[in-house]
Amino acid sequence: MSKAFTYPALRSTRDNFKCPSCGLALTLNAESQPKTYSCTNGHSFDMAKEGYLNLLLAQHKRSRNPGDSDDMIRSRQRFLATGHYSSLSETLVDLVSNSTMGFDQTLIDLGCGEGHYLQQLRNASPDLKLLGLDISKFAVRSAAKRKMDARLVVDSAFNIPLFENRVDTAISVFSPISSEETARILKPGGTLIMVGPGEEHLSGLTEIIYDKTVPHAGNPLEATAQFALQETLEIKRDISVEGSDILDLLTMTPYYWHSRPEQQVMLEKLKKLETRIHFYLKIYKNKGSE
Ligand SMILES: C[S@@+](CC[C@H](N)C(=O)[O-])C[C@H]1O[C@@H](n2cnc3c(N)ncnc32)[C@H](O)[C@@H]1O
Ligand SMILES: [Zn+2]
Repeated sequence: MSKAFTYPALRSTRDNFKCPSCGLALTLNAESQPKTYSCTNGHSFDMAKEGYLNLLLAQHKRSRNPGDSDDMIRSRQRFLATGHYSSLSETLVDLVSNSTMGFDQTLIDLGCGEGHYLQQLRNASPDLKLLGLDISKFAVRSAAKRKMDARLVVDSAFNIPLFENRVDTAISVFSPISSEETARILKPGGTLIMVGPGEEHLSGLTEIIYDKTVPHAGNPLEATAQFALQETLEIKRDISVEGSDILDLLTMTPYYWHSRPEQQVMLEKLKKLETRIHFYLKIYKNKGSE
């Protein structure tokens, strides 16, 4: 029988995930129940066979399957694997690598999706302690299948199942974010890197879907009292997307829901789509409780 997957050993119980029912640490009793994380109040959560925990309680869900659908996740995984966004992932890896702590740090990806950016970070260093959270179980399941030595959890970025001051860097790439929750789990002085769309992002696609260009609104940090903006980086490139990658690009974005069936058929038949990609990376420092 194959050995059950467990998360790597942690130095302190406060590095464990928090029980969503009572807030105590969830720990593993490796001998009696090798796949079950439980708190001392007796709440328990089984590790999925792919190697992730689902801590999203039914009463905290707004729908049966919140977050991105299986289809969106598969399309995003295929599209990101083409390397069209490699300028973004390389910049993210460089930012972490050139930070004061380098790769010797704990990093969480909030709204990690299928784990593309965590994978690039893992490829860059075996030393990073990586965490990934997403509200979509399809996303976290795909991320877990990568077997990239990351602690992965299904939960909301508005209710992060971690204790205070646990994380050195949080990244949020095109995902919803709570500034309060993020500030709580980051160490004072910790870094938040938010990636959002620039005004010209995917203009080649939006020109087809909309009569007039509607820029992607992104997910702004709703209050920045906890964070001090250190730097804004901008990435602008022109890419040429071919064949089935075009429909994957549409399906992985919210534009899919705004496109008409005939536009989807047209994009499916299109051989090549020239478009601009445009990102802003905002780097914040957590002020902590001053
Ligand atoms: C546009 S996708 C970006 C995914 C990934 N960061 C990437 O760039 O490949 C947004 C992600 O946020 C997730 N999401 C939506 N609401 C969330 C929430 N409240 N908490 C955590 N994740 C959420 C979705 O399931 C989806 O995976
Ligand atoms: Zn509990």
